[in-house]
Formats: sequence, C-alpha cells, structure tokens
Amino acid sequence: MTDSTKTATLTIDGQSFDLPVLSPTAGPDVIDIRKLYADAGVFTYDPGFTSTASCDSTITFIDGGKGELLHRGYPIDQLAEKSHYLEVCYLLLYGELPTAAALDKFEDTITRHTMIHEQMHNFFRGFRRDAHPMATMVGVVGAMSAFYHDSTDISDPHQREIASHRMIAKMPTIAAMAYKYSIGQPFVYPRNDLDYASNFLHMCFAVPAEEYQVDPILSRAMDRIFTLHADHEQNASTSTVRLASSSGANPFACVAAGIACLWGPAHGGANQACLEMLKEIGSVDRIPEFIARAKDKDDPFRLMGFGHRVYKNFDPRAKVMKQSADEVLDLLGIEDNPILQVAKELEKQALEDPYFAEKKLFPNVDFYSGIILEAMGFPTSMFTPIFALSRTVGWISQWKEQFSDPAHKIGRPRQLYLGETYRDYVDVENR
Ligand code: CMC
Repeated sequence: MTDSTKTATLTIDGQSFDLPVLSPTAGPDVIDIRKLYADAGVFTYDPGFTSTASCDSTITFIDGGKGELLHRGYPIDQLAEKSHYLEVCYLLLYGELPTAAALDKFEDTITRHTMIHEQMHNFFRGFRRDAHPMATMVGVVGAMSAFYHDSTDISDPHQREIASHRMIAKMPTIAAMAYKYSIGQPFVYPRNDLDYASNFLHMCFAVPAEEYQVDPILSRAMDRIFTLHADHEQNASTSTVRLASSSGANPFACVAAGIACLWGPAHGGANQACLEMLKEIGSVDRIPEFIARAKDKDDPFRLMGFGHRVYKNFDPRAKVMKQSADEVLDLLGIEDNPILQVAKELEKQALEDPYFAEKKLFPNVDFYSGIILEAMGFPTSMFTPIFALSRTVGWISQWKEQFSDPAHKIGRPRQLYLGETYRDYVDVENR
C-alpha cells in the first residue's frame, strides 16, 4: 500500500514535515497523517470528512467521476443483472464469489436463522401502532443484544460469524414485522422454502386468511433492490457502525446505530422523501417551479434523489433502478403512471439545467427505487427499512473487516475549538 518513493511535505512556520503517501489499488493517493500531531503538534480540519480516509478497505470501490461502483472488483451492473442478493452478501463478507457448494451452504445457513426469538414479539407490541417502522427497527435491532447473548462476545471469531449470519437472516423478518405491526395485521412467520426476497414479500403481504403467491418477477425486482443497496463503502451509516464498533460495542448495538443514521433524509431517508416530493409535484407542468425552488439559495428545498457526495456522474445504481421501474410497472400493467412520468421529465429537465450540470448533480439510487416499491404495494414509510435491511450486509462486512485490521483503535476525532478559553466560575448572585 505504501509507495516509499512518494512523500508530501508540509511546511509550518518554516519547519518542514515529510508525510508518507499511500497508494491504493484504485482511486487517489492518500497522505498518511497519523503521526502529524505527534511530530508537528497540529491537527487537520475536515468537517464532513470530504478529504479524509478513515480506514483502509478491500470491499467496495467507487469512482465518482466515472460513475462506477465495484464490489470486490465486480461492477454493480453485472452483479445486479447476473448475480443475486445472497451471492453478493457472500462476496462482500468473504471477498470472493462462492463456489456452488459454498453458496448452497451459505444460503442454507441464512435461511435457517430467519426466525426471531418468540419473546421479541412482545417487544414489538410495546411500540405505538403509528410508530415509523425505522423507529421500531432501531429499537428491536438494538434489543437483539438482549436476546442473543451467545453472539455478543466480539473477541470470539465464531460468535462474530454467528452474529453476522443472524443479522442478515433476521433483518427481513424484523422489517416485515415492523410493517405488519404498523398496519395492525398479524405477524407472518418466515418460510424457509422461499428464497430471501420472496420470503420478505411473503412476510409483508401474506395474511393468515388466504393464500399469497409471490410473483417471481416482483421477487426478482425486490432482490435487485436489495443487491443495489448492499454496500457503498464509507458512507455515513457505515462509518457510524465502524465508529460505534471501535469502542468494542456488540454488533447488534452497532447496527442499530447504523440504522439510526441511515434514517435521515440526506441518506437512506431520501427514497421516502423523493417519492413524497414527486407526489407533491404531481404533474409535469409544475416541474419548472420545483426546479426553480431547488436552485433558490433562500429556499431550503432540494431535489430529493439528486446529488451525491461521491458520484459526480450518473449513480450506476440509478441506471439499473430506472430500468427495473419500467419493468415492474409494465408487469403490473401500470401504464402511464403519473409519478413515473413526473420522475422522467424531472430528470430530463434537471439534467439539461446549467445549475445541476455545473454542480454535477445527477439522479442517485433513491430517485427511482420509491416508484418500484410503491408499485409493489409498500407504503413510503417502508422504503428506508428496506434500505436498512439491504445495507445490513455492508455494515456487517465492514464491521468484520475492522477486526482484521491490526492498527484498529477507537475512533476519536479531534476538533478546532472556538469557544471561551479558561475563566473562573462566578457565583449565581454575582452574574
Ligand atoms: N438539489 C439542489 N441542490 C443541491 C442538491 C439537490 N439535491 N444536492 C446538492 N445541491 C447543491 C448544494 O446546494 C450545494 O450548492 P452550493 O455549492 O451552491 O452551496 C452543492 O450542490 C453541493 O452540495 P452539498 O450539500 O455541499 O454536497 P454534499 O456532498 O454535502 O451532499 C447530498 C450530498 C446527497 C447530501 C446532497 O446532494 C443532497 O442533499 N441530496 C438530496 C438528498 C438525497 O437524494 N440523498 C440520497 C443520497 S444517495 C443514497 C445514500 O447514500 O443514502
């Protein structure tokens, strides 16, 4: 990783400090400032971590300029087309595509962990029925550490492995239960004869009163949504999981922290916010008004589903998602869907607008996912829980990788302090 021939020189008040430059297998070089404070007595300042690598990783690579996303080297469009979610989970967790036998074994392991402890049903019932399913998920996933004591010892690799499998297996069950609870329907137990995506659709849409057949095309679309959201290197929720875990916290608590972070509208909550925005726009003739608002510095409104910290080109996931949206609406016989028409025209007008071109703002993964999910019958409040269940494997893979790093230490950023300097306490009667 280190290219010993390259150094960067920092000069402070005439004194020079040589900093090693690390060369990645792909992407820009990285200046190693780990010894900077010890040697030079200064910190670096980078709110929002726009120029800071917080770790090294071999899992996911994004070339934001090209609009490229690779998992362990494989491009996302190929994985979305040729692979499926559980195979991608294996790839993310273990670094290579599985053999047929390894895949069988992995799928079997995940399938046999899909039920949750029966007592957790009572835990769900403690929530208000109108709780957002993300609120329920944060609580229930955090509570897993109270139910699965035999997989919270992070110093034991075997327990770490079981915790990983449990979370990937149980997250669809928990998300579906959060949904069923919010609509007042009975929980539907997982079915091990169904594949991962079909099982999730079944748990969400089946009722005990009648037979529910999962449409294979919808199941494929669901699986593709899971695949497209599986990992995205050091984004806010993944960094949250890594930071929480750096203190030695158990994996269920760390993933609950990741879910909480994902909920925000600038991150995973954007898919819900995007569909709500498309509905608010309502018709193609109102698009210019909303584009004008997005450009107005005095208006906090932003085009949801547009822009990305890393992609300065089309989000490659958005391309696959757009194609999937067409397929699903076609299958369901939803022709001339007004929301899809607004989305397509909004995308066109925004891409032609110099404001979006200059700032390199393109549609991201959330722009089309909500349209598919709504067509499948999910309410907007379920969009972010579906993102959370898909991203669980990414959080877990990055968490697992953190343990293999010998330089792993507690995350503890420094600050640029701008407050009062030392002053003596003043008694209340003298203030
Ligand atoms: N609509 C209008 N203007 C925008 C938008 C937008 N969606 N996104 C960024 N800008 C402008 C922003 O006002 C700023 O302008 P200026 O330089 O004049 O101040 C400039 O573009 C740069 O924006 P930024 O907020 O500094 O960029 P960032 O990298 O901090 O933010 C972002 C990235 C994704 C939070 C932001 O683009 C955004 O809020 N987008 C809408 C929410 C969204 O779709 N989020 C989903 C992201 S993809 C899924 C995920 O990873 O969770």
